[in-house]
Amino acid sequence: MIYDFDTVYDRRNTNSLKWDFAAERHHSEDELSLWVADMDFRSPDPILKALHDVVDRGFFGYTADKKEDREIVCSWFERRHGYAYDPEDMIFAPGVVYALTQAVNGITEPGDAVMISEPVYYPFSALVKDAGRRLVRNVLIHDEEEHYGIDFDIFEKQIKDNDVKVYILCSPHNPVGRVWTKEELLKIGDICLANKVTVFSDEIHADFVYGDNKHIPFASISPEFEQNSVTFTSPSKTFNLAGLQIAEIIARDEKKRAAVKKAVNATGYAEVPVTGLAAMRAAYTECDGWVDETVSYIWKNILYMKDHIDEKIPQLKMKLPEGTYLPWVDCRSLGYDRKELEDLIRNRAKLWLDAGYIFGESGTGWQRFNAACPKSIIVEVMDRLEKAVNERI
Ligand SMILES: Cc1ncc(COP(=O)(O)O)c(C=O)c1O
Repeated sequence: MIYDFDTVYDRRNTNSLKWDFAAERHHSEDELSLWVADMDFRSPDPILKALHDVVDRGFFGYTADKKEDREIVCSWFERRHGYAYDPEDMIFAPGVVYALTQAVNGITEPGDAVMISEPVYYPFSALVKDAGRRLVRNVLIHDEEEHYGIDFDIFEKQIKDNDVKVYILCSPHNPVGRVWTKEELLKIGDICLANKVTVFSDEIHADFVYGDNKHIPFASISPEFEQNSVTFTSPSKTFNLAGLQIAEIIARDEKKRAAVKKAVNATGYAEVPVTGLAAMRAAYTECDGWVDETVSYIWKNILYMKDHIDEKIPQLKMKLPEGTYLPWVDCRSLGYDRKELEDLIRNRAKLWLDAGYIFGESGTGWQRFNAACPKSIIVEVMDRLEKAVNERI
């Protein structure tokens, strides 16, 4: 390994949502924080250098993106995920949730139905409801082995019954860790095409994929899928840049792109921040090696968690995720209700995790962890969890 991922940095007093807001969010200071999808690794040196250069120049005035910025994003997608698109089809935005919201505003009408597959990243349901659209909750199915999937008969029936206009696909899927196969994406895309449903593909976790799994950009599958979808991505998860507010929307269909752009403009958002732009350029051009090592470091943390749970806390079940850095752990066999499980995690194990039910009712009894941190933290987390579970029984 060339890069250092083992150092534990004290992120308190840095305005970190993950580490500085325990009191505001009714948690205690001694809980180890693994909830928000934010890594405890410093961003790679080329990004720090690019930001230092901006600061050293001392000008933070208005900025705008150029064609070469859009080309840089495209070339990352092409190099890492084998999908090339025209840079002119891309729009920068301050974040993926913001971008999804504006795409919902631009492409649907108030009262239209938007479908999601739960358990899923909880801002999806919030943004649909806040935009005054009807939320349709498709529920993922899972087998005994905890392998999640879509029941395509139900998926299509819900689309038809509710006259769904947009389906928000989470690919890779947070929190269940699925990297959708080509067959699954084909089924989603074909059903959506046949029923005139636009697919919004949130691919923010695309760079975190393990083993033989391969992230397939939804739009790369066919020209029809390209035209019938909008893709959302960002360097924020991959390089830990969420605080720099830069994300990308790719809409190949001119009408959809114009509608999204209009909605974005209507919010008064016009320019990317000078810092975000500089960080994005360095990230997508100089940091491939860092990303490869980050992903393999996180994978080892995930394997450690899995072994520890299997051997020492067999009451819990963890399936290895195919993608994302967010292991999803089944605690249902403990037989606790929501309050008891919360008491175990927060008060006894002293962990701050995301409880599964916040991703949708079907997540009740699960907990979502975050493995993007130094190994020593994962070891501590597993020790605390083991002790708390075994003391309780
Ligand atoms: C699936 C998914 N989409 C979007 C986001 C957040 O994106 P942003 O911070 O750019 O709004 C996250 C963060 O965890 C996520 O998991």
